[in-house]
Amino acid sequence: MTQHLAAPAHHPTSGTHTGWWRDAVIYQVYPRSFADGNGDGMGDLAGIRDRLPYLKELGIDAVWLSPFYASPQADAGYDVADYRAIDPVFGNLHDADALIRAAHELGLRVIVDLVPNHCSDQHDWFRQALREGPGSRLRERFHFRPGKGVNGELPPNDWESIFGGPAWTRVEEPDGNGGEAGGEWYLHLFAPEQPDFNWEHPAVQDEFRSILRFWLDLGADGFRVDVAHGLVKAPGLPDIGGSEQLKLLGNDVMPFFDQDGVHEIYRSWRRILDEYEGQRVLVAEAWTPTVERTALYVRPDEMHQAFNFQYLTTNWDAQELRGVIDGSLAAMRPVGAPTTWVLSNHDVTRHATRFANPPGLGTQLRDQGDRELGLRRARAATLLMLALPGSAYVYQGEELGLPDVTDLPDEVRQDPSFFRAEGQDGFRDGCRVPIPWTRSGSSYGFGSGGSWLPQPDSWGELSVEAQTGVPGSTLELYRAALAVRREHPGLGAGDAVTWLDAPEGVLALARDGFVCTTNTTGADVELPVPGALLLASGPVAFGEGAGGGTVVLPADSTAWWAV
Ligand code: GLC
Repeated sequence: MTQHLAAPAHHPTSGTHTGWWRDAVIYQVYPRSFADGNGDGMGDLAGIRDRLPYLKELGIDAVWLSPFYASPQADAGYDVADYRAIDPVFGNLHDADALIRAAHELGLRVIVDLVPNHCSDQHDWFRQALREGPGSRLRERFHFRPGKGVNGELPPNDWESIFGGPAWTRVEEPDGNGGEAGGEWYLHLFAPEQPDFNWEHPAVQDEFRSILRFWLDLGADGFRVDVAHGLVKAPGLPDIGGSEQLKLLGNDVMPFFDQDGVHEIYRSWRRILDEYEGQRVLVAEAWTPTVERTALYVRPDEMHQAFNFQYLTTNWDAQELRGVIDGSLAAMRPVGAPTTWVLSNHDVTRHATRFANPPGLGTQLRDQGDRELGLRRARAATLLMLALPGSAYVYQGEELGLPDVTDLPDEVRQDPSFFRAEGQDGFRDGCRVPIPWTRSGSSYGFGSGGSWLPQPDSWGELSVEAQTGVPGSTLELYRAALAVRREHPGLGAGDAVTWLDAPEGVLALARDGFVCTTNTTGADVELPVPGALLLASGPVAFGEGAGGGTVVLPADSTAWWAV
Protein backbone atom coordinates (compact mmCIF):
# COMPACT_ATOMS: atom_id res chain seq x y z
CA MET A 1 0.00 0.00 0.00
CA THR A 2 1.45 3.36 -0.90
CA GLN A 3 0.94 6.67 0.78
CA HIS A 4 -1.36 9.03 -1.03
CA LEU A 5 -2.55 12.49 -0.23
CA ALA A 6 -6.14 13.21 0.42
CA ALA A 7 -7.09 16.50 -1.12
CA PRO A 8 -9.44 16.26 -4.08
CA ALA A 9 -8.16 18.83 -6.54
CA HIS A 10 -11.02 21.31 -6.51
CA HIS A 11 -10.78 22.25 -2.85
CA PRO A 12 -8.78 25.18 -1.52
CA THR A 13 -5.69 24.08 0.36
CA SER A 14 -4.72 26.66 2.89
CA GLY A 15 -5.91 28.96 5.63
CA THR A 16 -8.07 28.21 8.64
CA HIS A 17 -10.88 30.30 7.25
CA THR A 18 -11.04 28.54 3.92
CA GLY A 19 -10.93 24.94 5.09
CA TRP A 20 -13.23 22.57 3.24
CA TRP A 21 -14.87 21.48 6.50
CA ARG A 22 -16.20 24.93 7.38
CA ASP A 23 -19.41 24.52 5.43
CA ALA A 24 -19.20 20.81 4.61
CA VAL A 25 -22.13 18.43 4.82
CA ILE A 26 -20.71 15.31 6.41
CA TYR A 27 -22.57 12.01 6.15
CA GLN A 28 -22.16 9.48 8.96
CA VAL A 29 -21.86 5.92 7.78
CA TYR A 30 -22.42 3.29 10.45
CA PRO A 31 -20.50 0.48 8.73
CA ARG A 32 -22.37 -2.50 10.14
CA SER A 33 -25.71 -1.10 8.96
CA PHE A 34 -25.00 0.65 5.66
CA ALA A 35 -24.42 -2.03 3.01
CA ASP A 36 -23.30 -5.64 3.20
CA GLY A 37 -20.87 -6.56 0.42
CA ASN A 38 -20.23 -10.20 1.35
CA GLY A 39 -23.69 -11.39 2.40
CA ASP A 40 -22.94 -12.21 6.04
CA GLY A 41 -25.71 -9.99 7.37
CA MET A 42 -23.28 -7.33 8.62
CA GLY A 43 -22.36 -4.23 6.63
CA ASP A 44 -18.73 -3.86 5.52
CA LEU A 45 -16.18 -1.68 3.75
CA ALA A 46 -16.77 -3.32 0.36
CA GLY A 47 -20.48 -2.55 0.70
CA ILE A 48 -19.73 1.09 1.47
CA ARG A 49 -17.40 1.36 -1.51
CA ASP A 50 -20.11 0.02 -3.83
CA ARG A 51 -22.51 2.67 -2.60
CA LEU A 52 -20.20 5.67 -2.87
CA PRO A 53 -21.88 6.82 -6.11
CA TYR A 54 -25.14 7.07 -4.16
CA LEU A 55 -23.45 9.34 -1.63
CA LYS A 56 -21.89 11.42 -4.38
CA GLU A 57 -25.27 11.84 -6.02
CA LEU A 58 -26.85 12.76 -2.70
CA GLY A 59 -24.53 15.77 -2.71
CA ILE A 60 -22.54 15.42 0.50
CA ASP A 61 -18.92 16.53 0.88
CA ALA A 62 -17.48 13.96 3.23
CA VAL A 63 -18.16 10.66 4.92
CA TRP A 64 -17.47 9.91 8.58
CA LEU A 65 -17.11 6.18 9.20
CA SER A 66 -17.91 4.85 12.65
CA PRO A 67 -15.25 2.36 13.87
CA PHE A 68 -14.22 -0.54 11.66
CA TYR A 69 -11.12 -1.60 13.63
CA ALA A 70 -10.35 -5.07 14.94
CA SER A 71 -12.74 -5.45 17.85
CA PRO A 72 -14.69 -8.07 19.79
CA GLN A 73 -17.70 -5.80 19.10
CA ALA A 74 -18.72 -5.53 22.75
CA ASP A 75 -19.81 -1.96 21.96
CA ALA A 76 -20.28 -2.19 18.19
CA GLY A 77 -16.61 -1.52 17.49
CA TYR A 78 -16.09 1.27 20.04
CA ASP A 79 -14.04 -1.35 21.88
CA VAL A 80 -10.86 -1.46 19.80
CA ALA A 81 -8.42 -4.36 20.10
CA ASP A 82 -6.06 -3.16 17.35
CA TYR A 83 -6.12 0.41 16.06
CA ARG A 84 -4.13 -0.46 12.96
CA ALA A 85 -6.21 -3.39 11.74
CA ILE A 86 -9.68 -3.78 10.27
CA ASP A 87 -12.10 -6.20 11.89
CA PRO A 88 -12.58 -9.21 9.58
CA VAL A 89 -16.32 -8.56 9.77
CA PHE A 90 -15.71 -5.32 7.85
CA GLY A 91 -12.85 -6.44 5.57
CA ASN A 92 -9.12 -5.72 5.70
CA LEU A 93 -6.65 -2.89 5.27
CA HIS A 94 -6.71 -3.22 1.49
CA ASP A 95 -10.47 -2.62 1.58
CA ALA A 96 -9.91 0.47 3.71
CA ASP A 97 -7.27 1.75 1.32
CA ALA A 98 -9.51 1.04 -1.68
CA LEU A 99 -12.47 2.74 -0.03
CA ILE A 100 -10.49 5.90 0.76
CA ARG A 101 -9.08 6.01 -2.77
CA ALA A 102 -12.47 5.46 -4.40
CA ALA A 103 -14.00 8.21 -2.26
CA HIS A 104 -11.23 10.62 -3.22
CA GLU A 105 -11.71 9.84 -6.88
CA LEU A 106 -15.31 10.96 -6.48
CA GLY A 107 -14.23 14.11 -4.63
CA LEU A 108 -15.50 12.85 -1.27
CA ARG A 109 -13.44 13.18 1.92
CA VAL A 110 -13.18 10.40 4.49
CA ILE A 111 -13.13 10.96 8.25
CA VAL A 112 -12.38 7.96 10.44
CA ASP A 113 -13.45 7.43 14.05
CA LEU A 114 -10.68 7.48 16.65
CA VAL A 115 -11.43 5.95 20.06
CA PRO A 116 -8.75 7.20 22.49
CA ASN A 117 -10.54 7.16 25.85
CA HIS A 118 -10.56 3.39 26.13
CA CYS A 119 -9.69 0.26 24.21
CA SER A 120 -11.00 -3.29 24.28
CA ASP A 121 -10.20 -5.69 27.10
CA GLN A 122 -8.75 -7.79 24.27
CA HIS A 123 -6.16 -5.13 23.38
CA ASP A 124 -2.63 -6.57 23.75
CA TRP A 125 -1.62 -4.06 26.43
CA PHE A 126 -4.60 -4.83 28.60
CA ARG A 127 -4.30 -8.58 28.24
CA GLN A 128 -0.65 -8.44 29.16
CA ALA A 129 -1.39 -6.10 32.07
CA LEU A 130 -3.83 -8.69 33.42
CA ARG A 131 -1.41 -11.54 32.88
CA GLU A 132 1.44 -9.76 34.67
CA GLY A 133 -0.56 -9.08 37.81
CA PRO A 134 -0.28 -6.22 40.34
CA GLY A 135 2.87 -4.15 39.92
CA SER A 136 2.96 -4.71 36.14
CA ARG A 137 4.30 -1.66 34.29
CA LEU A 138 1.56 -2.16 31.72
CA ARG A 139 -1.09 -1.62 34.37
CA GLU A 140 0.14 1.99 34.59
CA ARG A 141 -1.27 2.57 31.09
CA PHE A 142 -4.75 1.99 32.51
CA HIS A 143 -6.37 2.94 35.81
CA PHE A 144 -5.76 -0.04 38.09
CA ARG A 145 -6.32 0.45 41.82
CA PRO A 146 -6.69 -1.72 44.90
CA GLY A 147 -10.23 -1.87 46.20
CA LYS A 148 -11.55 -0.29 49.37
CA GLY A 149 -12.93 -2.20 52.34
CA VAL A 150 -11.22 -4.75 54.56
CA ASN A 151 -10.50 -7.14 51.71
CA GLY A 152 -10.52 -4.72 48.83
CA GLU A 153 -14.03 -5.81 48.04
CA LEU A 154 -15.34 -2.30 47.34
CA PRO A 155 -14.61 -0.28 44.19
CA PRO A 156 -11.89 2.39 44.52
CA ASN A 157 -14.39 5.23 44.14
CA ASP A 158 -18.10 5.83 43.60
CA TRP A 159 -18.11 6.45 39.84
CA GLU A 160 -20.75 4.69 37.78
CA SER A 161 -20.45 3.51 34.21
CA ILE A 162 -22.35 5.40 31.53
CA PHE A 163 -23.79 2.07 30.50
CA GLY A 164 -24.98 1.34 34.05
CA GLY A 165 -23.42 -0.32 37.10
CA PRO A 166 -20.08 0.56 38.74
CA ALA A 167 -17.34 2.08 36.57
CA TRP A 168 -14.89 -0.42 38.09
CA THR A 169 -14.42 -4.13 37.61
CA ARG A 170 -12.36 -6.32 39.88
CA VAL A 171 -9.95 -8.70 38.19
CA GLU A 172 -8.95 -12.19 39.14
CA GLU A 173 -5.20 -12.10 39.54
CA PRO A 174 -3.11 -14.85 37.96
CA ASP A 175 -2.47 -17.65 40.47
CA GLY A 176 -4.16 -15.62 43.16
CA ASN A 177 -1.09 -13.36 43.42
CA GLY A 178 -3.20 -10.38 44.38
CA GLY A 179 -2.25 -11.32 47.92
CA GLU A 180 -4.61 -10.97 50.80
CA ALA A 181 -6.23 -7.90 49.36
CA GLY A 182 -7.40 -9.95 46.38
CA GLY A 183 -7.62 -8.65 42.85
CA GLU A 184 -7.19 -5.06 41.75
CA TRP A 185 -9.92 -3.04 40.08
CA TYR A 186 -9.75 -1.22 36.74
CA LEU A 187 -11.72 1.80 35.56
CA HIS A 188 -14.12 1.71 32.62
CA LEU A 189 -16.40 4.67 32.07
CA PHE A 190 -18.30 2.49 29.59
CA ALA A 191 -18.65 -1.32 29.47
CA PRO A 192 -16.29 -3.57 31.48
CA GLU A 193 -14.91 -4.65 28.09
CA GLN A 194 -13.71 -1.05 27.54
CA PRO A 195 -10.87 -0.25 30.00
CA ASP A 196 -9.98 3.46 30.15
CA PHE A 197 -6.46 4.46 29.18
CA ASN A 198 -4.35 6.47 31.61
CA TRP A 199 -3.61 9.54 29.52
CA GLU A 200 -0.93 10.74 31.96
CA HIS A 201 1.25 7.92 30.68
CA PRO A 202 3.72 8.87 27.93
CA ALA A 203 3.37 5.49 26.20
CA VAL A 204 -0.35 6.11 25.71
CA GLN A 205 0.33 9.56 24.30
CA ASP A 206 3.03 8.25 21.94
CA GLU A 207 0.88 5.37 20.79
CA PHE A 208 -1.98 7.62 19.73
CA ARG A 209 0.31 10.03 17.92
CA SER A 210 1.56 7.04 15.98
CA ILE A 211 -2.00 5.81 15.29
CA LEU A 212 -2.89 9.25 13.93
CA ARG A 213 0.02 9.07 11.52
CA PHE A 214 -0.93 5.58 10.44
CA TRP A 215 -4.36 6.71 9.23
CA LEU A 216 -3.16 10.04 7.88
CA ASP A 217 -0.57 8.15 5.82
CA LEU A 218 -3.34 5.91 4.54
CA GLY A 219 -5.14 8.99 3.27
CA ALA A 220 -7.75 9.68 5.95
CA ASP A 221 -8.92 13.29 5.78
CA GLY A 222 -9.40 13.48 9.51
CA PHE A 223 -10.73 12.01 12.71
CA ARG A 224 -13.93 12.12 14.67
CA VAL A 225 -12.61 11.84 18.21
CA ASP A 226 -14.76 9.63 20.41
CA VAL A 227 -15.43 10.82 23.98
CA ALA A 228 -12.96 13.67 23.44
CA HIS A 229 -13.99 15.18 26.76
CA GLY A 230 -13.14 12.07 28.78
CA LEU A 231 -9.44 11.32 28.35
CA VAL A 232 -8.13 13.17 31.41
CA LYS A 233 -9.50 12.40 34.85
CA ALA A 234 -9.29 14.70 37.88
CA PRO A 235 -6.15 13.97 39.97
CA GLY A 236 -6.74 11.34 42.62
CA LEU A 237 -9.96 10.13 40.96
CA PRO A 238 -12.14 11.81 43.62
CA ASP A 239 -15.55 10.51 44.63
CA ILE A 240 -18.53 12.32 43.23
CA GLY A 241 -20.36 11.90 46.46
CA GLY A 242 -23.88 12.63 45.31
CA SER A 243 -26.67 10.67 43.76
CA GLU A 244 -25.97 12.43 40.45
CA GLN A 245 -23.99 10.07 38.29
CA LEU A 246 -22.50 9.77 34.85
CA LYS A 247 -24.30 11.11 31.87
CA LEU A 248 -22.49 11.12 28.58
CA LEU A 249 -25.38 12.78 26.85
CA GLY A 250 -25.72 15.31 29.61
CA ASN A 251 -24.23 18.54 30.78
CA ASP A 252 -23.15 17.73 34.31
CA VAL A 253 -19.72 18.71 35.60
CA MET A 254 -17.91 15.49 36.49
CA PRO A 255 -14.33 14.66 37.60
CA PHE A 256 -13.86 12.46 34.52
CA PHE A 257 -15.24 14.79 31.88
CA ASP A 258 -14.13 18.05 30.32
CA GLN A 259 -10.99 18.39 32.43
CA ASP A 260 -8.70 21.18 31.27
CA GLY A 261 -5.85 18.72 30.70
CA VAL A 262 -7.47 17.32 27.55
CA HIS A 263 -6.59 20.41 25.56
CA GLU A 264 -2.84 19.83 25.59
CA ILE A 265 -3.47 16.45 23.96
CA TYR A 266 -5.40 18.02 21.10
CA ARG A 267 -2.76 20.70 20.61
CA SER A 268 -0.17 17.99 20.09
CA TRP A 269 -2.46 16.17 17.65
CA ARG A 270 -3.13 19.35 15.73
CA ARG A 271 0.60 19.83 15.18
CA ILE A 272 0.70 16.40 13.57
CA LEU A 273 -2.26 17.07 11.29
CA ASP A 274 -0.74 20.35 10.22
CA GLU A 275 2.31 18.51 8.95
CA TYR A 276 0.15 16.78 6.37
CA GLU A 277 -1.05 18.21 3.11
CA GLY A 278 -4.68 18.34 2.20
CA GLN A 279 -6.40 19.97 5.16
CA ARG A 280 -6.97 17.11 7.58
CA VAL A 281 -9.50 17.74 10.34
CA LEU A 282 -10.21 16.84 13.94
CA VAL A 283 -13.82 16.72 15.10
CA ALA A 284 -14.62 16.47 18.79
CA GLU A 285 -17.36 14.37 20.28
CA ALA A 286 -17.36 16.42 23.47
CA TRP A 287 -20.36 16.59 25.75
CA THR A 288 -19.73 19.64 27.91
CA PRO A 289 -21.83 21.73 30.28
CA THR A 290 -22.06 24.71 27.90
CA VAL A 291 -21.40 25.67 24.28
CA GLU A 292 -18.68 27.97 25.62
CA ARG A 293 -16.88 24.95 27.08
CA THR A 294 -17.32 23.15 23.74
CA ALA A 295 -15.70 26.13 21.99
CA LEU A 296 -12.48 25.50 23.95
CA TYR A 297 -11.96 22.29 21.95
CA VAL A 298 -11.87 24.22 18.68
CA ARG A 299 -9.50 27.04 19.53
CA PRO A 300 -7.17 27.84 16.61
CA ASP A 301 -4.46 25.40 17.74
CA GLU A 302 -6.75 22.51 18.69
CA MET A 303 -9.51 20.73 16.81
CA HIS A 304 -11.39 22.11 13.82
CA GLN A 305 -14.96 21.23 14.73
CA ALA A 306 -17.03 19.94 17.62
CA PHE A 307 -20.45 18.36 17.47
CA ASN A 308 -23.19 20.68 18.58
CA PHE A 309 -25.15 18.46 20.93
CA GLN A 310 -27.00 21.41 22.38
CA TYR A 311 -28.63 21.73 18.96
CA LEU A 312 -29.40 18.01 18.75
CA THR A 313 -31.18 18.10 22.08
CA THR A 314 -33.29 21.19 21.32
CA ASN A 315 -37.04 20.74 21.12
CA TRP A 316 -39.09 21.62 18.05
CA ASP A 317 -39.83 25.09 19.32
CA ALA A 318 -39.06 28.35 17.51
CA GLN A 319 -37.87 30.24 20.55
CA GLU A 320 -35.68 27.44 21.83
CA LEU A 321 -34.20 26.87 18.38
CA ARG A 322 -33.43 30.53 17.91
CA GLY A 323 -31.77 30.67 21.32
CA VAL A 324 -29.53 27.69 20.57
CA ILE A 325 -28.67 28.93 17.08
CA ASP A 326 -27.67 32.35 18.41
CA GLY A 327 -25.84 30.84 21.37
CA SER A 328 -23.91 28.38 19.19
CA LEU A 329 -22.84 31.02 16.69
CA ALA A 330 -21.84 33.41 19.46
CA ALA A 331 -19.81 30.73 21.27
CA MET A 332 -17.80 29.77 18.19
CA ARG A 333 -17.21 33.29 16.85
CA PRO A 334 -14.42 34.24 19.29
CA VAL A 335 -12.42 31.10 18.47
CA GLY A 336 -13.03 31.40 14.73
CA ALA A 337 -14.29 27.81 14.35
CA PRO A 338 -17.35 27.00 12.27
CA THR A 339 -20.48 26.03 14.13
CA THR A 340 -21.76 22.54 13.43
CA TRP A 341 -25.32 21.26 13.37
CA VAL A 342 -26.57 17.74 13.90
CA LEU A 343 -29.98 16.16 14.43
CA SER A 344 -29.27 12.41 14.50
CA ASN A 345 -26.45 9.93 15.04
CA HIS A 346 -25.92 6.31 16.10
CA ASP A 347 -26.40 7.08 19.81
CA VAL A 348 -29.77 8.80 19.84
CA THR A 349 -33.31 8.16 18.70
CA ARG A 350 -33.66 9.32 15.10
CA HIS A 351 -35.07 12.83 14.88
CA ALA A 352 -38.12 11.71 12.89
CA THR A 353 -39.13 9.76 16.01
CA ARG A 354 -37.96 12.31 18.59
CA PHE A 355 -40.14 14.95 16.95
CA ALA A 356 -43.07 12.49 16.78
CA ASN A 357 -43.16 12.40 20.57
CA PRO A 358 -43.91 15.05 23.19
CA PRO A 359 -40.90 17.29 24.03
CA GLY A 360 -38.64 16.71 26.98
CA LEU A 361 -38.42 12.91 26.79
CA GLY A 362 -34.69 12.86 26.12
CA THR A 363 -32.81 11.08 23.36
CA GLN A 364 -33.74 7.43 24.03
CA LEU A 365 -37.39 6.96 23.09
CA ARG A 366 -39.38 3.76 23.09
CA ASP A 367 -42.48 4.95 21.30
CA GLN A 368 -43.22 5.68 17.64
CA GLY A 369 -45.44 8.63 18.60
CA ASP A 370 -47.24 10.35 15.71
CA ARG A 371 -45.11 9.23 12.76
CA GLU A 372 -46.62 11.59 10.23
CA LEU A 373 -46.03 14.56 12.51
CA GLY A 374 -42.51 13.38 13.26
CA LEU A 375 -41.59 13.10 9.60
CA ARG A 376 -43.08 16.48 8.76
CA ARG A 377 -41.06 18.13 11.51
CA ALA A 378 -37.93 16.15 10.68
CA ARG A 379 -38.01 17.36 7.07
CA ALA A 380 -38.56 20.93 8.22
CA ALA A 381 -35.80 20.64 10.82
CA THR A 382 -33.37 19.37 8.19
CA LEU A 383 -34.01 22.30 5.85
CA LEU A 384 -33.54 24.68 8.76
CA MET A 385 -30.27 22.97 9.71
CA LEU A 386 -28.97 23.13 6.15
CA ALA A 387 -29.73 26.86 5.99
CA LEU A 388 -27.46 27.69 8.92
CA PRO A 389 -23.87 28.90 8.58
CA GLY A 390 -21.34 26.17 9.30
CA SER A 391 -21.07 22.47 8.79
CA ALA A 392 -23.92 19.94 9.03
CA TYR A 393 -23.84 16.26 9.96
CA VAL A 394 -26.33 13.84 8.43
CA TYR A 395 -26.78 10.31 9.81
CA GLN A 396 -27.33 7.49 7.33
CA GLY A 397 -30.99 6.81 6.67
CA GLU A 398 -32.27 10.20 7.79
CA GLU A 399 -32.38 11.16 4.11
CA LEU A 400 -34.99 8.40 3.78
CA GLY A 401 -36.99 9.80 6.70
CA LEU A 402 -36.43 6.58 8.63
CA PRO A 403 -38.07 6.40 12.04
CA ASP A 404 -36.35 4.71 14.95
CA VAL A 405 -37.26 1.04 15.32
CA THR A 406 -38.81 1.04 18.77
CA ASP A 407 -40.15 -2.51 18.94
CA LEU A 408 -37.02 -4.62 18.56
CA PRO A 409 -37.40 -7.80 20.61
CA ASP A 410 -35.04 -8.00 23.57
CA GLU A 411 -33.33 -11.10 22.23
CA VAL A 412 -31.98 -9.33 19.14
CA ARG A 413 -30.67 -6.26 20.92
CA GLN A 414 -26.91 -5.72 21.01
CA ASP A 415 -26.41 -2.37 22.68
CA PRO A 416 -24.30 -3.23 25.76
CA SER A 417 -26.12 -0.72 27.92
CA PHE A 418 -29.40 -2.50 27.32
CA PHE A 419 -28.08 -5.38 29.37
CA ARG A 420 -26.74 -3.38 32.29
CA ALA A 421 -28.94 -2.13 35.08
CA GLU A 422 -30.02 1.49 34.80
CA GLY A 423 -27.96 2.19 31.68
CA GLN A 424 -29.02 5.46 30.17
CA ASP A 425 -28.48 4.56 26.55
CA GLY A 426 -30.08 1.15 26.36
CA PHE A 427 -32.17 1.81 23.28
CA ARG A 428 -29.54 2.69 20.72
CA ASP A 429 -30.19 -0.36 18.53
CA GLY A 430 -33.32 1.35 17.22
CA CYS A 431 -31.33 3.84 15.14
CA ARG A 432 -28.85 1.19 14.00
CA VAL A 433 -31.14 -1.06 11.97
CA PRO A 434 -29.64 -1.66 8.49
CA ILE A 435 -30.98 0.77 5.93
CA PRO A 436 -33.24 -0.27 3.03
CA TRP A 437 -31.98 0.14 -0.53
CA THR A 438 -34.68 -1.70 -2.47
CA ARG A 439 -38.45 -2.20 -2.18
CA SER A 440 -38.15 -5.93 -1.65
CA GLY A 441 -35.63 -8.71 -1.61
CA SER A 442 -33.31 -10.01 1.05
CA SER A 443 -32.92 -7.33 3.73
CA TYR A 444 -34.29 -4.73 1.32
CA GLY A 445 -31.09 -4.61 -0.68
CA PHE A 446 -28.83 -4.25 2.35
CA GLY A 447 -27.16 -7.52 1.38
CA SER A 448 -27.81 -11.05 0.24
CA GLY A 449 -27.52 -12.62 3.68
CA GLY A 450 -30.17 -11.02 5.86
CA SER A 451 -29.56 -8.28 8.38
CA TRP A 452 -27.98 -8.36 11.87
CA LEU A 453 -31.00 -6.53 13.27
CA PRO A 454 -34.47 -7.26 11.89
CA GLN A 455 -35.91 -4.57 9.60
CA PRO A 456 -39.56 -3.57 9.91
CA ASP A 457 -42.02 -4.44 7.12
CA SER A 458 -42.39 -0.76 6.34
CA TRP A 459 -38.73 -0.56 5.27
CA GLY A 460 -39.44 -1.38 1.59
CA GLU A 461 -41.59 1.68 1.02
CA LEU A 462 -38.93 3.85 2.65
CA SER A 463 -36.12 2.41 0.53
CA VAL A 464 -33.83 4.36 -1.77
CA GLU A 465 -35.48 2.60 -4.71
CA ALA A 466 -39.00 3.54 -3.61
CA GLN A 467 -38.09 7.21 -3.12
CA THR A 468 -35.78 7.85 -6.05
CA GLY A 469 -37.33 10.18 -8.60
CA VAL A 470 -40.50 10.59 -6.56
CA PRO A 471 -41.20 14.32 -6.24
CA GLY A 472 -41.62 15.32 -2.63
CA SER A 473 -40.02 12.17 -1.23
CA THR A 474 -37.66 12.77 1.65
CA LEU A 475 -34.73 11.46 -0.38
CA GLU A 476 -35.46 13.91 -3.21
CA LEU A 477 -35.87 16.71 -0.66
CA TYR A 478 -32.37 16.03 0.70
CA ARG A 479 -30.94 15.79 -2.82
CA ALA A 480 -32.55 19.07 -3.81
CA ALA A 481 -31.48 20.82 -0.61
CA LEU A 482 -27.89 19.70 -0.98
CA ALA A 483 -27.90 20.77 -4.63
CA VAL A 484 -29.15 24.25 -3.67
CA ARG A 485 -26.47 24.42 -0.98
CA ARG A 486 -23.79 23.65 -3.51
CA GLU A 487 -25.14 26.17 -6.00
CA HIS A 488 -25.26 28.87 -3.32
CA PRO A 489 -21.93 28.49 -1.53
CA GLY A 490 -22.92 31.44 0.66
CA LEU A 491 -25.46 29.22 2.38
CA GLY A 492 -23.06 27.48 4.73
CA ALA A 493 -20.61 30.37 4.88
CA GLY A 494 -20.13 33.04 7.50
CA ASP A 495 -20.84 32.97 11.21
CA ALA A 496 -24.06 34.93 11.60
CA VAL A 497 -27.71 35.00 10.62
CA THR A 498 -30.09 37.96 10.49
CA TRP A 499 -33.45 37.32 12.10
CA LEU A 500 -36.44 38.85 10.35
CA ASP A 501 -39.73 39.70 11.99
CA ALA A 502 -42.03 36.71 12.01
CA PRO A 503 -45.23 35.62 13.74
CA GLU A 504 -44.95 33.64 16.97
CA GLY A 505 -43.70 30.11 16.38
CA VAL A 506 -42.12 31.04 13.04
CA LEU A 507 -38.43 31.54 12.38
CA ALA A 508 -37.36 33.73 9.49
CA LEU A 509 -33.67 34.11 8.93
CA ALA A 510 -31.79 35.89 6.21
CA ARG A 511 -28.39 35.13 4.76
CA ASP A 512 -26.72 36.59 1.73
CA GLY A 513 -29.38 36.53 -1.05
CA PHE A 514 -31.39 33.92 0.80
CA VAL A 515 -34.23 33.63 3.32
CA CYS A 516 -35.31 30.56 5.29
CA THR A 517 -38.73 30.45 6.94
CA THR A 518 -39.65 27.72 9.42
CA ASN A 519 -43.11 27.26 10.86
CA THR A 520 -42.79 25.22 14.07
CA THR A 521 -46.47 25.57 14.95
CA GLY A 522 -49.12 22.96 14.30
CA ALA A 523 -51.15 25.39 12.15
CA ASP A 524 -50.77 27.07 8.76
CA VAL A 525 -49.24 30.53 8.88
CA GLU A 526 -49.70 33.24 6.26
CA LEU A 527 -46.71 35.46 5.48
CA PRO A 528 -45.76 38.07 2.88
CA VAL A 529 -43.86 36.24 0.12
CA PRO A 530 -40.19 36.62 1.06
CA GLY A 531 -38.75 35.98 -2.43
CA ALA A 532 -38.60 33.34 -5.14
CA LEU A 533 -39.35 29.88 -3.77
CA LEU A 534 -36.34 27.59 -3.98
CA LEU A 535 -37.50 24.60 -2.00
CA ALA A 536 -40.03 23.65 0.65
CA SER A 537 -40.47 20.70 2.98
CA GLY A 538 -44.28 20.88 2.68
CA PRO A 539 -46.88 22.17 0.20
CA VAL A 540 -46.77 25.97 0.30
CA ALA A 541 -49.71 27.85 -1.26
CA PHE A 542 -49.60 31.34 -2.69
CA GLY A 543 -52.41 33.89 -2.35
CA GLU A 544 -53.18 37.60 -2.42
CA GLY A 545 -53.14 39.23 1.04
CA ALA A 546 -54.06 42.82 1.91
CA GLY A 547 -50.54 44.16 1.31
CA GLY A 548 -49.62 42.09 -1.77
CA GLY A 549 -48.56 38.50 -2.41
CA THR A 550 -48.75 36.12 0.51
CA VAL A 551 -47.76 32.56 1.09
CA VAL A 552 -49.30 30.02 3.39
CA LEU A 553 -46.58 28.09 5.11
CA PRO A 554 -48.06 24.79 6.27
CA ALA A 555 -47.76 23.53 9.84
CA ASP A 556 -44.28 22.21 10.72
CA SER A 557 -42.58 23.15 7.49
CA THR A 558 -39.58 25.07 6.18
CA ALA A 559 -39.24 26.96 2.91
CA TRP A 560 -36.14 28.43 1.27
CA TRP A 561 -36.34 31.63 -0.76
CA ALA A 562 -33.97 33.44 -3.09
CA VAL A 563 -34.07 37.19 -2.52
C1 GLC B 1 -19.30 7.44 22.00
C2 GLC B 1 -19.91 6.66 20.87
C3 GLC B 1 -20.79 5.59 21.43
C4 GLC B 1 -19.95 4.67 22.28
C5 GLC B 1 -19.20 5.45 23.35
C6 GLC B 1 -18.10 4.63 23.95
O1 GLC B 1 -20.24 8.14 22.69
O2 GLC B 1 -20.58 7.54 20.00
O3 GLC B 1 -21.44 4.87 20.43
O4 GLC B 1 -20.75 3.69 22.89
O5 GLC B 1 -18.58 6.59 22.82
O6 GLC B 1 -17.05 4.50 23.03
